[in-house]
Amino acid sequence: MNTYGFNLTPMISKDKIQSRLKEIADAISEEYKDEVPIFIGVLNGSFIVMADLLRYMTIDCEMDFIKVSSYAKTESTGTVRLLKDISADITNRHVIIVEDIIDSGLTISFLKERLEGASPKSLSFVTLLIKPDITSLDFPIDHIGFEIPPEFVVGYGLDYDQKLRHLPEIYRLEGNLK
Ligand code: IMP
Ligand code: MG
Repeated sequence: MNTYGFNLTPMISKDKIQSRLKEIADAISEEYKDEVPIFIGVLNGSFIVMADLLRYMTIDCEMDFIKVSSYAKTESTGTVRLLKDISADITNRHVIIVEDIIDSGLTISFLKERLEGASPKSLSFVTLLIKPDITSLDFPIDHIGFEIPPEFVVGYGLDYDQKLRHLPEIYRLEGNLK
């Protein structure tokens, strides 16, 4: 399928994404049933996951965002930069970091270290997608939507050079991307 001049192949449908997010929200609602967790979305990619995941929550919860950058087009630059910090005070709070995708693991490891420094009561991790063949982490991810092959994907918040985030499902982006 050719959209806006990009060669896109559907990978994960709207329905699959929604039913998986509902399962994750149900599990989190059960885990934190007597607490008020705070979700921290990682901008820009996770804004759509946050919007949908939070609407499936059935317990009281709060949210905030943090913005980091490590990618240039389709490749990690190897360093993570903090572009916008959280505004909430997370000291002694149950914090749940929400990512769109974990690739090398560099971004989520950076966020773990940074947010641990603010002394939360607990820190857990949700990601819609992970590429297990290339991810290297020394801690577990609590909720994973889908494991995908090490290919570049777009849509549902994920971009190519800041574009294609608005597509309602996840596509593999093919062709010469450099
Ligand atoms: P990591 O630091 O290598 O784990 O990369 C994480 C970040 O890179 C994600 O939050 C995305 O912003 C971006 N990223 C990694 N893989 C993809 C992809 O396949 N499509 C779009 N963005 C990606
Ligand atoms: Mg991201």
